[in-house]
Amino acid sequence: MTSPPIAQVRSVLFAALGLGACRAGSPEVASSSAPPAATTLVATTLVVGSAQSASPEPPPRAQVGFVSAGGGTGHRVSGETCAPFTVERGESRGHRCATDGDCDARSACHCAEGGAGTCIPARCRNDSECATLPTAATVPECALVQFTAGCGSDTTPGFACRTANDTCHNDADCTNSDVCLGDTFRGGLHCGHNSCVKGRPLYVDGRPQTAAIRDGDRWTAEGWNFDLRDLSADARASLAETAVRDALDEHASIAAFARTLVELLALGAPPTLIGETQAALADEIRHARLCFALARAAGAHVEPGPFPEALAPFAAPEALVGSLARSVFRGGCLGETHAAVDAATRAQEARGPELRAFYREIADDEARHAALAWKTLRWLHAREPAVVACIVREELGLVAGSEDSPASQTRASSVLRALVLPLVGEFLAA
Ligand SMILES: [Fe+2]
Ligand SMILES: [Fe+2]
Repeated sequence: MTSPPIAQVRSVLFAALGLGACRAGSPEVASSSAPPAATTLVATTLVVGSAQSASPEPPPRAQVGFVSAGGGTGHRVSGETCAPFTVERGESRGHRCATDGDCDARSACHCAEGGAGTCIPARCRNDSECATLPTAATVPECALVQFTAGCGSDTTPGFACRTANDTCHNDADCTNSDVCLGDTFRGGLHCGHNSCVKGRPLYVDGRPQTAAIRDGDRWTAEGWNFDLRDLSADARASLAETAVRDALDEHASIAAFARTLVELLALGAPPTLIGETQAALADEIRHARLCFALARAAGAHVEPGPFPEALAPFAAPEALVGSLARSVFRGGCLGETHAAVDAATRAQEARGPELRAFYREIADDEARHAALAWKTLRWLHAREPAVVACIVREELGLVAGSEDSPASQTRASSVLRALVLPLVGEFLAA
């Protein structure tokens, strides 16, 4: 059953792409044949003997199979041999396996405690693969980590190399509410948020950036009169905090679209794409001002300060299509879609007509921005089909099998099934 916010976003998104719901696929059945979705890895393990180990001497290493560090964690020295399984006539094997040979090239067979094997996502299949990386760790490990689709999704396990550039080893190395994340841009593990990317982030080295805030009110929009008198002091403070965070994300989206505009020009994009990107940039200026206005109404008199990250170097010309495709897919096709559903949900829950109108406007704009991301991706795909298709599969392939997990019950998974996977299926089939 599709929720009203998802249905609302789908109607705007698919209409902007000139698609009917039937042509794009029913969300209730699309996930069984479409590629799985993924965005990030979450490392929850401390693996003995890794590059960041406090001990100068690596501990003795087992020679075969999966070396458990307890608690369902560890690393993979070589392929595992799990218990044999049988498949009844007419039954699907699903993700069951005895060895890696039963899994596809992007998965590995991992044995549960009882011996039963399951194909799980794998960016590596054994420690020695990790030793050949240019950024190989001193003690290379193909570690068991957790994959997540973000936005509150449950996690599913997978294998990924630890690297010399890792900035965390497990969640305990991260401060605040950050967790240790695998990074599909840079590889390796880094502290970050395991949460929805809202709107189109400005990525620098694969990390979303926002400006620092300072006192001021030059970014607030006029003409909005948010009536928050019914809210308690605590509720107002909470709303102010959320609005400032949203405002900074919207402000960062201005820089993201500005850079996309320049990159599209560099690649010779048509005027329609340039014009829509410019219009989206203008939308983000309005969104930022609206969010700062809401923050002010809730008691936060702040504005964005300088944002030097907007000047980050661009990708080399030969890598520009791939770089832009990755940021457009992650920030636009995924991030803007999540932002649209998030705003539509808040509109549904908002008290008062002003707040409802505020969130509805943002929801519709973000849905159109998601549609623009798909149009941009199509254009990039026409230029370098193999590169762009590979990037889309890579971004999605990290949580293979998650459609069978409890994560399928989360809103994030519903968004992926209803609004992303049907379009991915259509995109890759084109
Ligand atoms: Fe926005
Ligand atoms: Fe946006």
